[in-house]
Amino acid sequence: MDNKLKISGIVLFLTILFVSGVHAENGYELWLRYNPLENQSVANDYKKSLKEVVVFGNSETSEAIKKELSIGLKGLLSVEYKVGSNAEVDNCLVVGTPKNSPFIAQLSINEKLQKLGDEGYLIYTIDKGAKQRIVIASQTEIGALYGTFHFLRLLQTQQNISDLKIEESPKTTHRLLNHWDNLDRTVERGYAGFSIWDWHKLPDFIDTRYVDYARANASVGINGAVVNNVNANALILTDQYLHKLLALAKVFRPYGVKVYLTARFSAPIEIGGLSTADPLDANVINWWNEKAKEIYSIIPDFGGFLVKANSEGQPGPQQYGRNHADGANMLAKAVAPFGGVVMWRAFVYDNNVPDDRAKQAYNEFQPLDGKFPENVFVQVKNGAIDFQPREPFHPLFGAMPKTPLMMEFQITQEYLGCATHLVYLAPLYEECLDADTYVKGEGSTVAKVVDGSLNSHKYSGMAGVSNIGNDINWCGHPFAQANWYAYGRLAWNPENSSEQIADEWIRQTFTNNQKFIDVVKPMMMNSRETAVNYMTPLGLHHQMAWNHHWGPGPWVNIGRLDWTSPYYSKADSFGIGFDRSSKGSNAVSQYSTSVKDKFDKLESCPEEFLLWFHHVPWDYKLKNGQTLWNGMVDKYYGGAESVKKMQNDWESIKGLIDNERFYHVSQLLNIQANEAIWWRNACLLYFQQFSKQPIPANYEQPNKALDYYQNLKFRFVPGISN
Ligand code: GCU
Repeated sequence: MDNKLKISGIVLFLTILFVSGVHAENGYELWLRYNPLENQSVANDYKKSLKEVVVFGNSETSEAIKKELSIGLKGLLSVEYKVGSNAEVDNCLVVGTPKNSPFIAQLSINEKLQKLGDEGYLIYTIDKGAKQRIVIASQTEIGALYGTFHFLRLLQTQQNISDLKIEESPKTTHRLLNHWDNLDRTVERGYAGFSIWDWHKLPDFIDTRYVDYARANASVGINGAVVNNVNANALILTDQYLHKLLALAKVFRPYGVKVYLTARFSAPIEIGGLSTADPLDANVINWWNEKAKEIYSIIPDFGGFLVKANSEGQPGPQQYGRNHADGANMLAKAVAPFGGVVMWRAFVYDNNVPDDRAKQAYNEFQPLDGKFPENVFVQVKNGAIDFQPREPFHPLFGAMPKTPLMMEFQITQEYLGCATHLVYLAPLYEECLDADTYVKGEGSTVAKVVDGSLNSHKYSGMAGVSNIGNDINWCGHPFAQANWYAYGRLAWNPENSSEQIADEWIRQTFTNNQKFIDVVKPMMMNSRETAVNYMTPLGLHHQMAWNHHWGPGPWVNIGRLDWTSPYYSKADSFGIGFDRSSKGSNAVSQYSTSVKDKFDKLESCPEEFLLWFHHVPWDYKLKNGQTLWNGMVDKYYGGAESVKKMQNDWESIKGLIDNERFYHVSQLLNIQANEAIWWRNACLLYFQQFSKQPIPANYEQPNKALDYYQNLKFRFVPGISN
C-alpha cells in the first residue's frame, strides 16, 4: 500500500473512534471501569433511588469519596451529581461518620459501628419505599471509603439496592502488597513492564498512576504496600529515598494505604558506617532506633519493615551467631514506639543443602514460637517450597500458636506462566486457606490461623507478592488483574469464595452479560487446575527451567542440589516422587497428627499431593484404575487439551466485549496453548527415560525429541536481566 493511502486509512480509523466516542479499552481502569450499565431498567431504578448524594467531611478521604462517587455514578448512570449537603431529602445517598456528620451521629448506630471497628462499615436503607435513603456509615472516613467502594460494586454488578442491610469489617488487620521492585525499576519476577515507582522523578513528579493504584487497592481493602524488593537495597533507607517515599505516602494516605519498606539487615554497615550488623551490638541497636525515629519523623504513619534474612544470600542475624528472633526483635523494638510492625519472612534456607528443603522453615522457626513481641509477624509462604502451582499448606500454619503468622501468597505468576498464561489464582489461595490444620480439632483452618481467630492475636494479615508493573493494563495479562483483585478480597476476608470473587470481578471488569459470565467464570475457575495438569500434576513440583522459571526444565541439574529439578522429582527406574513420609524425609511429622497420618499413608494421601509425599512405582494403580505413568500422561494431555477448550470458549464470546481486550486475550491464549504442549512434551519425554513406557498410541505423539527441548536457550526472558 502506498504511504499516503496507509496514513489516510489510519486517520479514518482514528476519526471513526473519535466521532463515535469509543475510548480505548486498554484495561487501565481495572475493575473500576464504571461503564454505563447495560440493563436500562436497573439503571432507571438506581436513578430513582439516587436523586442526591451527600458526603460529609472535608478531609482528603472525604474528597476521595466524593470524587469516586461522582466518577462512578456518572460512568454507570450517565448522571452528573453535585454532592449536596442536605441529608434530609428523599432518595439520597448519605456517606459519613458520627464525627463528621450530626445526621449520622443521631442514627443510633454508634454501638454497631464500634463493633465493626475502624475499617468496618454499614450500608443500609432507611425510610424505605418512595422516600428511600441509603446510608453508608463508619467510625472512620477510611471505613466510609471502603463502604463507598462496596456500594459502587453493588451498582456495577447490578444488585438490588432497595433494602440494604450490609455490615462489613475486615477479618485481618494488615492487608499488604509486597512489591519486589528494585530501585532501578526492574521488578524481580515481574512480568508487566517496569516498576510503577519512578524513583528518579520522585518526590516532585506525581504520576497519576499512583492515585489510581491507591484507589484500586482501597476498593478491595488493601491497606499497605511494601514498595521495594525483599532482596533489599539499603539505599531506600537513606534520607533522599525517604523523602521520595513520603511523596508516595501522601498520595496513598487518603486511601488508607500505608507505606512499608524492606530492611536490609546489613544496612548499619552499608549506609551507617558500622563494622557490624550484629543485632545484639549496642551500636547496631542504636542505629536502628535512630533510623526508625528518622523515618517516623518524615512519615508518621509509616507501617514498618519486611525482612528477608539468611535466605538466598541475604544477610541476617545468623551471620553473627544469633537467631531470627534476635534479629526481628531488635527491629520490632525500634518501630514499636511508633506503632510499627516487623514482618520477618520464614522463607529461609541456609548454605548447607538439607535432606529436604521443605522442612527448613519449620525447623528454624517453630522453636522460636513465643519468643517474639506482639508487633512481629512471621510471614510464611503458602507452601513449604516456593509458590509452586500446587503445594500442600505450609506446616508452620498451626504450629506457632503464640505468633501471628502472616500469609504470603504470590500474585505474580513466577511459576504459573508469567503474564502470558490465563491462571486465576483465587482457587489456589482458597485451597490453602480452607485446608484444615486440625491443631485444635476439626475446623482449625489455615484461614483461622491467618485471621488470628484461632489464637486471638492483636494483629493478623496477608501479603501478596504484587504482579503490578507499568504496562498500560498494570498486570500484563488482562486476566492477571483478577489475581490482584481476588487477593485483596481474600485478605479482607479469608473465607470469601473464589467463585463469588470471579463473578463480581468479571461483571465489573467486562460485562454483566450472563452469556459471557457463563462461559468465562468456569474458564477462570478451572484455569489453575489446568496449569497444574500441564506443568506439575499429581504433586510434582519444582520442574521449571533454570533461573527464569517460565518454561519446563525437569532435567535442570545446575546450581546447588536443592535448586535442581531431579532433587524434587526423584525420577528413577522404580518410580517418581519425593518420599516425605515417615519412611523418607519425615516432613509429614511437621503436621498435626491427623494431617500427618493422612499424608503419610499412600492410600489416604490425596492424589493431588501423591508425588509431594511419596516415591511411587510407575505401575502403581491410581484411584481411577490407571497406572501412575498412564495417569501422568493423561493429566499432562488433559491440561494441554483444556487450554484448547479455553481458546474455543473464548472464541464463543466474541462480540460480547470490546475487540481490544478480546484480541489481547485470544492472542495470549494462543501462546498458552503452545506453551502447555511444550511443558507436556518436555516433561513426559524426560520422565519417559525412567518409566520406559510408551505414551499410549491414542494420544498425539510429541513431534520433537527430548534433546530439542533440552537445548532450547532463552535470554532476556521477563523476570531475569541476562
Ligand atoms: C523465589 C524467587 C526469588 C525470590 C524468592 C523470595 O525464590 O525465585 O526471586 O527472591 O522467592 O521469596 O525471596
